[in-house]
Amino acid sequence: MYPLIRNRRLRANESIRRLVRETIITPDDFLVPLFVVEGKGIKEEIASMPNYYRLSLDNLEKEAKELWNMGLCAVLLFVKVPDDLKDNEGKEALNPFGLMQRAIKTVKNACPQMLVMTDVAMDPYSSYGHDGIVQDGKILNDETVEVLTEMSISHAQAGADFVAPSDMMDGRILSIREGLDDEGLLDTGIMSYSAKYASSFYGPFRDALDSAPVDIKNVPKDKKTYQMDFANRFEALRETEMDIDEGADIVMVKPGLCYLDILREIKNEVDVPVAVYQVSGEYAMLKAAAEKGWLDHDAVMMEQLTAFKRAGADIIASYFAKDVVKLLG
Ligand code: PBG
Repeated sequence: MYPLIRNRRLRANESIRRLVRETIITPDDFLVPLFVVEGKGIKEEIASMPNYYRLSLDNLEKEAKELWNMGLCAVLLFVKVPDDLKDNEGKEALNPFGLMQRAIKTVKNACPQMLVMTDVAMDPYSSYGHDGIVQDGKILNDETVEVLTEMSISHAQAGADFVAPSDMMDGRILSIREGLDDEGLLDTGIMSYSAKYASSFYGPFRDALDSAPVDIKNVPKDKKTYQMDFANRFEALRETEMDIDEGADIVMVKPGLCYLDILREIKNEVDVPVAVYQVSGEYAMLKAAAEKGWLDHDAVMMEQLTAFKRAGADIIASYFAKDVVKLLG
């Protein structure tokens, strides 16, 4: 009790602060999202994500090597699919020579030890911009799960270490686990986007992949029938527990900053690693404010990333990963 106890003693200078610091960010915390496009020599900046790029396979190879040399050991691959290959059933997603399948091989050839995770969802392949097959104004669940299962098998056969279903269909984790096991792909892991909210923070990502829901009659304008209502908390726990029962190796909360309460609660409840995804809109907000000189980029970045880890994240998917590692030196 004061005056015997003075808490400020433990904050008096940087050395004592270092000694008692509870949460330390390291390169090992990060999963680096990468956007891949067809073509050669392409490195296109994404308009709403300053200093983040879509890469063709040759540049993906360079990027993977650079990340590995910086000490970053895991990537999460997304592809931008040409319009003429999109349809309602996501057929291109199953093409063994498709962009994702080639991207996996490219990274694995360049850096055999780099952990490769892949996005498993239909939206980049969907002519309607949905994570599932659209029929009569609805997103079909079970038919979509079959596609996601085939997609996961295809990614695993191409060499993915983990598949990361980001769609929020019911029952997809069980179906994917059984599908992988039936094919003898016992070592391929599943990182489930377990508590993924219907968020307005995904805007820049949908620009990056040109994957936003299209404005056509009888196509839902948003993803609220499958992604979670951001007002809900118990539902996140239920979703996460079900995914673990179905065989998820890693679970995820997404987006990050607005959902630190959910992250902490899930971390307290489960005993598998918990990931958080600091999404594109969170990245864009800080980049924009920093560009205007309104926020200190590096300081706010570190404060946010430390908050994820303090709230219980074992893994952080973040577009800031390289910036952080450079800052850490
Ligand atoms: C789609 C998917 C999205 C993101 C990852 N996978 C967008 C969405 O659900 O519409 C968002 C990532 C980000 O915003 O950084 N399956």
